Amino acid sequence: MEILKVNNLSKIYKGAVSYEALSKIQLSVNPGEFVGIMGPSGSGKTTLLNLVSTIDSPTSGEVLINGRNPHTLSADQLAVFRRRELGFVFQSFNLLHTLTVKENILLPLALDGVSLKEMNSRIDQLADKLGITTILDKRTYEISGGQAQRTTIARALIHEPKLVLADEPTGNLDSKAARDVMEIMEKRNQEDGTTMMLVTHDPVAASYCNRVVFIKDGQLYNEIHDGDNRAAFYQKIMNVLSLLGGNADEFQTIRI
Ligand SMILES: Nc1ncnc2c1ncn2[C@@H]1O[C@H](COP(=O)(O)OP(=O)(O)OP(=O)(O)O)[C@@H](O)[C@H]1O
Ligand SMILES: [Mg+2]
Repeated sequence: MEILKVNNLSKIYKGAVSYEALSKIQLSVNPGEFVGIMGPSGSGKTTLLNLVSTIDSPTSGEVLINGRNPHTLSADQLAVFRRRELGFVFQSFNLLHTLTVKENILLPLALDGVSLKEMNSRIDQLADKLGITTILDKRTYEISGGQAQRTTIARALIHEPKLVLADEPTGNLDSKAARDVMEIMEKRNQEDGTTMMLVTHDPVAASYCNRVVFIKDGQLYNEIHDGDNRAAFYQKIMNVLSLLGGNADEFQTIRI
């Protein structure tokens, strides 16, 4: 069964002027897939991710995660569901600055009442895999952007979620740190089978995915699958982006 199924999903933002940001989206993600979502600015990518992550609710259509529709859960059930089934990685790291790296990562487990022994064993393994062992006791203002993003990824993975959702996880990073983050996500996907869905403007980041889905004006535009190597996939992604039109520069992440 799919880990994520999106059926006829639409979102209209109501206001002085109503705006249909997503229109009848159909999307299935199988366990173990690493799916990228691309499209011009304003095409509805974050809206889609927010509907899947239950940050926002759809106007019509449904979201099924492991066969369950999170939008029908009560607030209490939803909090548990999100904490256990989903992991989130955002562009702005959303770390708590009064806590250490280790405390930030353990927060979701502490909320679930996991034992200290279990927490320590999990963090040791994960920190090792993400290369953050030496910074565990630092405060979040004492670490670099790349380290902060790896910390966010650790926090998203610590409870072994079925589905990790990431919105522009490399958006604030230089190209070296961005590659490190993508390599880590790719490795967790390949070795642990964690299903990942990633929204990105960056064709290099997208080239780490197995499949890239393109959205234009709130509708599915195209989807492509990876091939023999990442360089060839990158080229395929660039070709679709140029067909998508708009300002090609928008997709070249500006990095200083
Ligand atoms: N809360 C909101 N109220 C009204 N309109 C909104 C709201 N959030 C987004 N929109 C509109 O919906 C459309 C899709 O926005 P969304 O944030 O999903 O785009 P995006 O593809 O993530 O863009 P970007 O690449 O710039 O992050 C845009 O036209 C945006 O202006
Ligand atoms: Mg967005």
